[in-house]
Amino acid sequence: MGILSVLAGKSSEELAENIAKELGARLVKTQNVTFPDGEGKIMLDDGLTGKKIVVVQSVSPPVDTNLVRVLSLVAKAKESAPYVIAVIPYMGYARQDREFLPGEIVTLKVLSKLFKGAGASEIIIVDIHSKIGLEHFEIKSQNVTAVQELANHFKGISLKNLLVVSPDQGGRERAEEFAGILRADCIVLTKQRDRKTGAVQIKTRDAMVNGRDIIIVDDMISTGGSIIKATKFLKKHKCRRVFVACTHGILVNGAEEKIKKAGVTKIVSTNTVPGRTSSVDVSATIAKAIG
Ligand code: R5P
Repeated sequence: MGILSVLAGKSSEELAENIAKELGARLVKTQNVTFPDGEGKIMLDDGLTGKKIVVVQSVSPPVDTNLVRVLSLVAKAKESAPYVIAVIPYMGYARQDREFLPGEIVTLKVLSKLFKGAGASEIIIVDIHSKIGLEHFEIKSQNVTAVQELANHFKGISLKNLLVVSPDQGGRERAEEFAGILRADCIVLTKQRDRKTGAVQIKTRDAMVNGRDIIIVDDMISTGGSIIKATKFLKKHKCRRVFVACTHGILVNGAEEKIKKAGVTKIVSTNTVPGRTSSVDVSATIAKAIG
């Protein structure tokens, strides 16, 4: 079955273009219109061809708007192709993958039903918050990781006695893989988040970071709270420079400036969410996963 069309959602247009190039596939762009009452409309620039269509769009801010858009694109693709792959480079709601407090809704589970209902045959996500999230999908699901590309970026930077740090236990596997690529040591901090207020505290008491360059590795930065707390802790223990490598640089509410103010030298993220820090391209990895 040949892939003939890659359908690009606006939030991921450049990444979709790169994926289409990697696959040698045809690219179809889209246009969004928002009516005065907030309702949206999405239109394709061209017709779709092929038995397999790849829809590319992150569920990044504005999250609910982009969610409706990508579901609409999947539904449109399904009208003309039997096999539709939803590539969701950044999957919003992935942190809501379990019931942490009684009464909470596992929204990612709801999304899995929506993607299936819209007609997705398969879903590909880049660095999903936790692999537990994949278990909610009743269609074929794959997580691909940007860790190799992010680590490659740092190969060109001269770092002193590098230490890789995961800001929480959930990110251990990712940080250890990153450290392995750069042949560096790795430590994992213990972070506690108040499930009601969202406030973050670092519970680790001590860390041997004196004079060392640090790379904090995380799946995403939203408000920057986790990175700022980790940076302040590491600086208190007299580390040298702090770099941040994350897959999804959402960076809301002035997070980039706040993180820099906390003493971070550089933030590096991928183009799953395009922005000022997204210098790492993940199109080749995604194209490989599409096959
Ligand atoms: C949490 O477990 C995630 O891995 C991120 O550390 C977190 O969601 C980032 O959010 P924020 O930047 O708002 O702290």
